[in-house]
Amino acid sequence: MTTTREELGSKSDYATLRSVVKADLKALANLDEEVFGNAAYSLMYMTSLYLMFRKSWYLAEHEGGLAGYALVCPDSDNSEVWLMGLAVSGNCQGHGLGRTLMARAMELMMDSGAPDAYITVRPDNKAARHLYEAFEFTADGEERDNFYGNGEPRQVFHRSLVKNPYTAAPA
Ligand SMILES: CC(C)(COP(=O)(O)OP(=O)(O)OC[C@H]1O[C@@H](n2cnc3c(N)ncnc32)[C@H](O)[C@@H]1OP(=O)(O)O)[C@@H](O)C(=O)NCCC(=O)NCCS
Repeated sequence: MTTTREELGSKSDYATLRSVVKADLKALANLDEEVFGNAAYSLMYMTSLYLMFRKSWYLAEHEGGLAGYALVCPDSDNSEVWLMGLAVSGNCQGHGLGRTLMARAMELMMDSGAPDAYITVRPDNKAARHLYEAFEFTADGEERDNFYGNGEPRQVFHRSLVKNPYTAAPA
């Protein structure tokens, strides 16, 4: 099925998107623990990410509570930009919020000016793989064993933002 630009837009009737502020970090760490378990970012690591990347970190709120987030991190010479976090709370999954946050992440990746975007994903994470493929990311090489040193494999996904720039859906 072909996905239209409108379907890939960063507007949502289900949730409100806004920039992360420091007071959100505890709730973000709790959300990470809920969805990633022992692979979650700690509050300390979240705080470090906030210091460096808060301008490209967005969260989604549904009925006043934290529903999800997307974190985009350009590297130091802006040659690559990485999606370092995408999560939707279990209660809020399946309402299109993953797509909405991913669309916001694409806008942030384009804003960074980096030519190449990357994501790592567990090979068995069908929902995330489906989402990244919908945003025209493709597997970059073979699965990598023990990618983060915790014994788990990861697949790296890549999209060129130069050859294939993302165009935000119209408001
Ligand atoms: C991946 C994740 C962000 C998706 O969030 P979501 O709000 O449920 O996603 P959406 O409702 O926007 O659905 C996105 C697409 O994924 C599809 N999808 C959802 N679950 C799926 C599954 N188990 N297998 C295949 N596709 C699935 C949906 O059908 C939808 O596709 P469509 O629009 O083509 O129909 C969410 O499942 C999540 O947070 N998972 C835990 C954390 C995680 O794995 N993060 C990514 C790390 S790389």
